[in-house]
Amino acid sequence: MDQRPRRNRKSEGIRKMVEETIVLPSHLIYPLFLMDGKTKSQPIQSLPGISRMNLDDTMKEIEASIKLGINSFVIFPAVADKLKDKKASYSYSSSNFYLKAIQVLKKQFPNAVFMSDVAMDPYSSDGHDGYVEKGEILNDKTLPILAKMAVAQAEAGFDIIGPSDMMDGRVGYIRKALDDKGFENVSIMSYTAKYASAYYGPFREALDSAPKSGDKKTYQMNPANKREAIREALLDEQEGADFLMVKPALCYLDIIHILKEVSVLPIAAYNVSGEYAMLKAAAANGWLNYEAAMHEQLLSIRRAGADIILTYFAKDFGKLYKKMNG
Ligand code: PBG
Repeated sequence: MDQRPRRNRKSEGIRKMVEETIVLPSHLIYPLFLMDGKTKSQPIQSLPGISRMNLDDTMKEIEASIKLGINSFVIFPAVADKLKDKKASYSYSSSNFYLKAIQVLKKQFPNAVFMSDVAMDPYSSDGHDGYVEKGEILNDKTLPILAKMAVAQAEAGFDIIGPSDMMDGRVGYIRKALDDKGFENVSIMSYTAKYASAYYGPFREALDSAPKSGDKKTYQMNPANKREAIREALLDEQEGADFLMVKPALCYLDIIHILKEVSVLPIAAYNVSGEYAMLKAAAANGWLNYEAAMHEQLLSIRRAGADIILTYFAKDFGKLYKKMNG
């Protein structure tokens, strides 16, 4: 035989030398669920190992993560029902605990990267990402609300604004609002190809943010579609996004791959709550090796083309990385 591919696999040393893809803690963004007040952490049933945390516990979690090389965080607010209304007005209110908290976090961890969430659902009495009138999600009435939210978040100190709402034209609209207020250095990571997925279930439990009626199919993408993701990517790029995101990750590796081909922007992928929950459940039953399967999942997302991965595995991967690399 002239060709023996196995020679390149014969030892750990050779295998490492020819390894094409790596996952580093610096590639990961760790999602955290923030609560108001001093109530102690509330574990989320469907996301084992993840809790809604008050600000003190959040700071401890961030400090521990930074020690493991995880330096980037996306923060989601768990908002009390009584503060929710049709217009999500608490999202940009000066009394908003989320906006106050980021000021503290930024002061405490000036070198960490903090990303926000822009969408109405955590604050909306309708549980939709946009403004609802007669059962319809109105795109153009939503845009000014998203822009106010984004400006308030930039003012509070977020490094990256993360519109997760899937309204048309929102990246350009938010970009202009930020620039008008002098926040031209605040970045936008657009949830570009966000699919109407069944894998968001545990997240909606975490924030109690499930839609009160209907579903999200008039704004989130149809899981059957690939070319439409290219259309969304080209628009977000034109509108001034700094990063494009695909969400979820594992069922959409082909979408990650194609966006990497058609865009020169960094590509992020959101390894969502349901993807995390599946592996946790299998591992708890002894059906899968947690660390090995986690590493393989993250590797596959990177191999597909993601530069950045938002993942609930972040801290556990930080620990594993330390163990593997001393
Ligand atoms: C909503 C939002 C969702 C997630 C992030 N932002 C859920 C949804 O669209 O209903 C899901 C993240 C996850 O499942 O981990 N703006």
